[in-house]
Amino acid sequence: MLKAVVCVSGGGTNLQAILDAMDAGRITNARIMAVISNNAGAGALKRAEKKKIPALVLSPKSYPDRESFESAFTAKMCELAPDLIVLAGFLVKIPDGMVKKFDGKIINIHPSLIPAFCGVGYYGLKVHEEALRRGVKVTGATVHFVNEGMDEGPIIAQKAVAVEEGDTPEILQRRVMEQAEWILLPQAIDDIANGRLTVKDGHVCRSGKVQI
Ligand code: GAR
Repeated sequence: MLKAVVCVSGGGTNLQAILDAMDAGRITNARIMAVISNNAGAGALKRAEKKKIPALVLSPKSYPDRESFESAFTAKMCELAPDLIVLAGFLVKIPDGMVKKFDGKIINIHPSLIPAFCGVGYYGLKVHEEALRRGVKVTGATVHFVNEGMDEGPIIAQKAVAVEEGDTPEILQRRVMEQAEWILLPQAIDDIANGRLTVKDGHVCRSGKVQI
């Protein structure tokens, strides 16, 4: 059974989608061993507690500098030794050392069609504000493996979502979550847990076939 650690920063609707998918049998052969947040006030922590999943807070603010936070975060992850790390709305860049140690074992959900509206400064509602400002007619979400870059790792799956007349960033964010994020992320976890999805030399492989 695949052991996953889910990292969160906010409300945790993606974490909830994973929990619901596990309850409904849409994710099999996997369990969440811990939830980690950089933010003590994250609603996601309450969702974990409700399910009796160990939840811990590791905030950069509690450390004298970035380096000591990153080494504590990496050490904690090594101690937990998950098979998969799921970034479900986690707004902290994963330290390079952790990416190396968990090569091919970290996935992230991003609320746009990468490479649009991604990289440094594009997170949460900001992504949708920028999409509306640019006037795109289609946006969506992407689930991808994490490498040392920011939103640059191999893409696992994407789903397009229409932008509609009168959308606000909040309305668009909700539609992208409902129509894309809450579907793509559980699906990727189920695929990985059941050996249908891996990454090798920077290429996503589905059931042993390299996807280019
Ligand atoms: C989600 O929209 C997720 O895609 C986004 O943060 C939100 C978290 O919501 N992630 C990023 O922007 C990462 N760059 P949630 O806490 O309700 O799941």
